[in-house]
Amino acid sequence: MTGGILAGKVALVTGAGSGIGRATCRLLARDGAKVIAADRNLQSAQETAKELGAGRSAALEVDVSSAKSVQGAVAEALLKFDQAPSIVVNSAGITRDGYLLKMPERDFDDVYSVNLKGTFFVTQYFAKAMIEQKLEGGSIVNLSSIVARMNNVGQANYAATKAGVISFTEVASKEFGKFGIRVNCILPGYIDTPMVAVVPEPIKQEVVQRCPLGRMGRPEEIAEVIAFLASQKAAYVNGAAIEVTGGLK
Ligand code: NAI
Repeated sequence: MTGGILAGKVALVTGAGSGIGRATCRLLARDGAKVIAADRNLQSAQETAKELGAGRSAALEVDVSSAKSVQGAVAEALLKFDQAPSIVVNSAGITRDGYLLKMPERDFDDVYSVNLKGTFFVTQYFAKAMIEQKLEGGSIVNLSSIVARMNNVGQANYAATKAGVISFTEVASKEFGKFGIRVNCILPGYIDTPMVAVVPEPIKQEVVQRCPLGRMGRPEEIAEVIAFLASQKAAYVNGAAIEVTGGLK
């Protein structure tokens, strides 16, 4: 596809080897962007890129929790399509659920390192590249979670990082506005991806019952909102935290 609202744009998506990240790659490509699928798991990123087609997509290995790895990814991304991405989606994320009194320090640190610090590294280094290249219409979309507001038992680490992503997004939107870079985040509800596959069935059933639409969401239903935020259709949306939950509160 050569036309589309994102034609001429390069997008980079982290966590692109699975779930919401992969669906986002598909929809950004549908809308005409060239897409760099980035993931810690290179093979899964390559599968995503392969599906989108050569010349229109590329895969890249990155560990978002490592500054060095993210810096390397910026350099690599520049080479893929001869320009820095002006669309960046922070979809890499992990859970390590457990009750607070029993939570190992490692589980707290891992979730913090990927979900919050990873969002920081990717945003900082890719925004620098956008600014250096004087790219217009920059858009960064971060994945928070409705858990940041529901604050579920057993998710102290995850909830805290996802609440942090909302605040981080708002600060970034204020600092980057003068560079023409918008920064927004999405709070998905329960979306049918490998991340949620590990949630015990009774908990999933309870969530579905509490959701006014009576079902889990599909990754594409989050990706549609990301594609909107990435585009000029959302030219005046900045610093927003958008719930996409089927009404689940
Ligand atoms: P997923 O588990 O299907 O995919 C996550 C991807 O991130 C995987 O491909 C994994 O390899 C990659 N990843 C993990 N650590 C990484 C690292 N250090 N560096 C680079 N890549 C890394 O997850 P899903 O469901 O697609 O979630 C995407 C985002 O949306 C996450 O941030 C998650 O917290 C958030 N979210 C998901 C919800 C859901 O119900 N699935 C609900 C609310 C938020």
